[in-house]
Amino acid sequence: MSANQCPERRCRSVVVTGSNRGLGLGLVEGLAAAQPAPDLVVATCRHPESAQELQLLSKKYSNIRILQLDVVSEESRQAMVQQVEALVGEAGLNCLINNAGINTVATLEEVTAENMLKIYETNTVAQLLVTKALLPLLRRAAQRTEGMGWHRASIINMSSISASMQLVQEKEMFLMVYPYRIAKTALNMVTRCLAADLKCEGILCMSLHPGWVKTDMGGTQADLRMEESVPLIISLLGRLSEKDTGTFLDWKGDTVPW
Ligand SMILES: NC(=O)c1ccc[n+]([C@@H]2O[C@H](COP(=O)([O-])OP(=O)(O)OC[C@H]3O[C@@H](n4cnc5c(N)ncnc54)[C@H](OP(=O)(O)O)[C@@H]3O)[C@@H](O)[C@H]2O)c1
Repeated sequence: MSANQCPERRCRSVVVTGSNRGLGLGLVEGLAAAQPAPDLVVATCRHPESAQELQLLSKKYSNIRILQLDVVSEESRQAMVQQVEALVGEAGLNCLINNAGINTVATLEEVTAENMLKIYETNTVAQLLVTKALLPLLRRAAQRTEGMGWHRASIINMSSISASMQLVQEKEMFLMVYPYRIAKTALNMVTRCLAADLKCEGILCMSLHPGWVKTDMGGTQADLRMEESVPLIISLLGRLSEKDTGTFLDWKGDTVPW
């Protein structure tokens, strides 16, 4: 029996941001269909009314709930938290996956204050503030059980290998995306700070590189299909424990150098 199949290590509730398409949608489907599956998979997106694939999924899987969330809007974050609280109640929230993100091609010649700040807002600041907003519910879950992992309380920040400072020389293609990779490096610091701050409360936080995956952002040249990345990510989430807080892992569970 694997760690995530062990009943007492089961994750009961997950929130996924940016889940109307791409990896977020794939994660919601994979989680909703997992064996055992969380009781509640909260799939958040900017425009639920036009999220057709997500709506179809929620008809197929009774554990999916769709909520509106624009991660850069404080009003939207607060409304989402109230609705998540009503869904999870005293049990609190076991897992937050900060998946929503944006990218834009911007070389050294093309980088501007405007494209830097827009990506920083969406890919770094918003992850911290979504986490802060949901922290009372993560704390509630953490107080109910022992150990560390997604069965208790966990924050998963969707990072990227392009954020690795050690691999900059080897990954020259990422010199095309200055704002994105710099914001993801800052997100990794968010991970490290949260991991250090929240460890004593039993709340795990890690950065995840999902692989280069064929999505709108990853493009058609990407190495992996969603069906290759998502099951391994879900398996990894189920295996996370105290040793993994503050780490940067890829979809296979291998360490990515900072
Ligand atoms: N694909 C890859 O190869 C790859 C590699 C490394 C890391 N990642 C990371 O993995 C995550 C998912 O990537 P992806 O490939 O699935 O990207 P994607 O296909 O472009 O999807 C991005 C998702 O983020 C949402 N989003 C963007 N801004 C938002 C906001 N302000 N509020 C709420 N949602 C917002 C989008 O919603 P809308 O439809 O409303 O725009 C969409 O659902 C990202 O953080 C990305 O950086 C991806």
